[in-house]
Amino acid sequence: MAILEAIELVKRFGPVLAVDGLSFEVGDGEVVGLLGLNGAGKSTTLHMLLGLITPDAGQVRVFGLDLARHRTEVLSQVNFAASYVDLPGPLLVHEVLDAFARLYAVRRPRARVAEMIELLELGPLRDRRMMDLSSGQRTRVQLAKALLNAPRLLVLDEPTANLDPDAGDRIRALLSRGSREGGGAMLITSHNMREVERMCDRIHFMAAGRIVATGTPAELAGHYGAEDLEEVFLKVARG
Ligand SMILES: Nc1ncnc2c1ncn2[C@@H]1O[C@H](COP(=O)(O)OP(=O)(O)OP(=O)(O)O)[C@@H](O)[C@H]1O
Ligand SMILES: [Mg+2]
Repeated sequence: MAILEAIELVKRFGPVLAVDGLSFEVGDGEVVGLLGLNGAGKSTTLHMLLGLITPDAGQVRVFGLDLARHRTEVLSQVNFAASYVDLPGPLLVHEVLDAFARLYAVRRPRARVAEMIELLELGPLRDRRMMDLSSGQRTRVQLAKALLNAPRLLVLDEPTANLDPDAGDRIRALLSRGSREGGGAMLITSHNMREVERMCDRIHFMAAGRIVATGTPAELAGHYGAEDLEEVFLKVARG
């Protein structure tokens, strides 16, 4: 079953056609990557899929339900992390997570927060203010928040952009393990081709708001006669 269906999505910002008739699906348990140059329309697409902005045309279906009509029901089983989303600065790390756990009506919120603090190795930071954290530390809090409700669909916009290679590696392992162990589907964007190669079952390349190439990392490399995804990216991006 498709966990997520993007159907003919269109989004304009004034003269800019950011997303231009985009359709794709994410299957149950699947990890799908959206790639493309800066400005290709990846974040705009994610924001429509999350109901943060309204498409000019097209439809978003999540778990088989129309997002526009079943927003609350759908979004309770979805979550999102991005480095550009700010969590309340004056709050302590554990206060932020406590607040979201209650907002999400998570069962046994304190135990769940403790579990996420453990998972994201936030123990030493739990009593620090959000505003005092480094950007990589904030990213880990974002991910802890995004996993709190054990989402059936996890949407990540450049999840490891601020992380050092060691933290990035641990987070990728944690997310991949989570998805393999039945943790639901993931849709991610990234400019880190090794990350995408390692994590994604399937990839869509976007250019100017459209999908211009699709496949598994190996299929794409084969199709473009490329050594790796980095080379595929450059070939696709440079036409
Ligand atoms: N709120 C907005 N108002 C006006 N234009 C916007 C807005 N959001 C996005 N755009 C434009 O839409 C296009 C797509 O932007 P988007 O953020 O989706 O790209 P992206 O693929 O996520 O790029 P990046 O890799 O840099 O994150 C860009 O031309 C951008 O300038
Ligand atoms: Mg973006």
